[in-house]
Amino acid sequence: MCGIVGYIGYKEAFPVLMNGLRRLEYRGYDSAGCALISQDGKLNVYKAKGKVADLEQEALGQDVSGTLGMSHTRWATHGEPSAVNAHPHISQSGRLALVHNGIIENYVSIRESLIKKGYEFKSETDTEVLVQLIEYIKNTYRTSLLKAVRIALTKVIGAYAIVVVDQDHPHEMVAARKSSPLVIGIGEENKEFFLASDATPIMEYTRKVVYVNDEEVVLMKRGEEIKIVNLANDNVNPEIQQIEADMGVVEKDGYPHFMLKEIFSQPDCVRECMRGRILAKEKRIVLSAIVNHKELLVNASRIIIVACGTSWHAGLIGKQLIEQMCRIPVDVEYASEFRYRNPVINKGDVVIAISQSGETADTLAAIGLARSMGATVFGIVNAVGSSIARATDTGTYIHVGPEIGVASTKAFTGQVTVLTLFALALGREKGTLSREEYEEIVAELYQIPDKMQKVLESASHIEELSKPYTYVRNFIYLGRGFNYPVALEGALKLKEISYIHAEGYPAAEMKHGPIALIDSEMPVVCIALHHQLYQKVLSNIQEVKARNGKIIALVTEGDDTVSKIADSVITIPATLSCLSPLLSCIPLQLLAYYVAVRRGLNVDQPRNLAKSVTVE
Ligand code: F6R
Repeated sequence: MCGIVGYIGYKEAFPVLMNGLRRLEYRGYDSAGCALISQDGKLNVYKAKGKVADLEQEALGQDVSGTLGMSHTRWATHGEPSAVNAHPHISQSGRLALVHNGIIENYVSIRESLIKKGYEFKSETDTEVLVQLIEYIKNTYRTSLLKAVRIALTKVIGAYAIVVVDQDHPHEMVAARKSSPLVIGIGEENKEFFLASDATPIMEYTRKVVYVNDEEVVLMKRGEEIKIVNLANDNVNPEIQQIEADMGVVEKDGYPHFMLKEIFSQPDCVRECMRGRILAKEKRIVLSAIVNHKELLVNASRIIIVACGTSWHAGLIGKQLIEQMCRIPVDVEYASEFRYRNPVINKGDVVIAISQSGETADTLAAIGLARSMGATVFGIVNAVGSSIARATDTGTYIHVGPEIGVASTKAFTGQVTVLTLFALALGREKGTLSREEYEEIVAELYQIPDKMQKVLESASHIEELSKPYTYVRNFIYLGRGFNYPVALEGALKLKEISYIHAEGYPAAEMKHGPIALIDSEMPVVCIALHHQLYQKVLSNIQEVKARNGKIIALVTEGDDTVSKIADSVITIPATLSCLSPLLSCIPLQLLAYYVAVRRGLNVDQPRNLAKSVTVE
């Protein structure tokens, strides 16, 4: 989704801005722009439809000097992707420029009232009203930029992270946020500032950051301390935090795509996720969130999981894990539905919110609703310090490092790992899981990274077998039990990056409708592992075979039944049923990847998609 990068200090801003935008490309966007105040005090704005490289081309040979600037990648909501709709937007006088992430819901009424005052609009965006409104307030009340921004934001309904610069004040930059993330990096001697929608573009310059909170407005002046006020104009003390991050995670490390790198990093990520949480010698799990909220969790009468997309699929696996090990009923809800459904939340209910980015607008709103209704919210989040991590009462980070590929891979296995640890630890606390079962699962979970490594060894086999499917138009994915959500996830991965239509189904549901789709043109991915439902899945596979469907089977090593029926076979090491999603998802990620690569598509930044969905 949209990305913001800003800089004010002593360096030339343009390279910082372009470098930063490239670091944010993973978020997904369709146009880009930047504004700089030049050495001679002129506001220069450049915009282009397309990629950051197109913007650089646009700015080539033009004046890009200046030590204050801001830039933006836009993911279109209001108005098509075009240079006119790209940010920054400029005020009527041409003296103010503004970039914005989020949506201004009441932009139509603000726009109409400004038109009556003689303002003209050039773009179709909701954003343009903000810059005009700020200028109107600044001129009418003869106020500072900071005050004009603050007052303007009290008139606005919606979500925003904004940055505003004013040609008349070339030594300052004003930023603000509500429901859309914004991080400020404090550079040299605390008097140089970097600013971005997430910490990725900032990390190479400084590790000292301030996460801007909702309804806060920030004034950054070259050479001075940062100043923060809230919308009521009370001073807020900036809370400076130190971020730990490995720059290596934002490089491809020799892989052709981030997605492939992230698929291959899963054994290490899962090890990292379990580090300090599985005490292998004692065959014991320690999750501080469970230790600290033992009473509440042990006595929970119901758990509601809220999430979107891939995180929702992880939630479906979590439901089975928690119900099996803890005997607590679990509902899994799309956050976008939950937030508008007036859901029933009873005393004793616990909500688990799952999010990789920690910024998904619907999940954030679902958390707000649940908390307002008295629920305790437990977060399972990847992005440290993100809005969701801060909005939840407690939680566990998955610690898989920044995920750059838009299609989520390592975050999914990280989420499933944390849900498994959660269910095991809580099941043991409740006494619903026997010591023998607990120890058996813990010991096997500890082996999972090595088994993932073995699955990854079949990458070239998967690449080869995927070839005939490059140009098919549809795919079906079937799985049961713990592997039904994996079938959904496999189908989602394929849709997202290869643009092939794919459906995931619980295998037995096929005969209630989707079987009508099966003919010799239809590839059907069947997850048929050696667990209690193996024989049932086998029957479903026979039904596909009888209708000439092309079967790609995912089987347990040593399988000799499904393997004889299937057109192609991928084997994975044997493991416990409840842990099998951690292995079975990997071949499906690789299958989607190789198909998309052969179709010549941009795997890391698929069309129309955004990494961090900060609008609802
Ligand atoms: C799919 C994918 C999306 C996200 C969804 C939720 O590959 O990445 O479906 O899972 O947008 O995002 P988070 O987990 O950041 O809340």
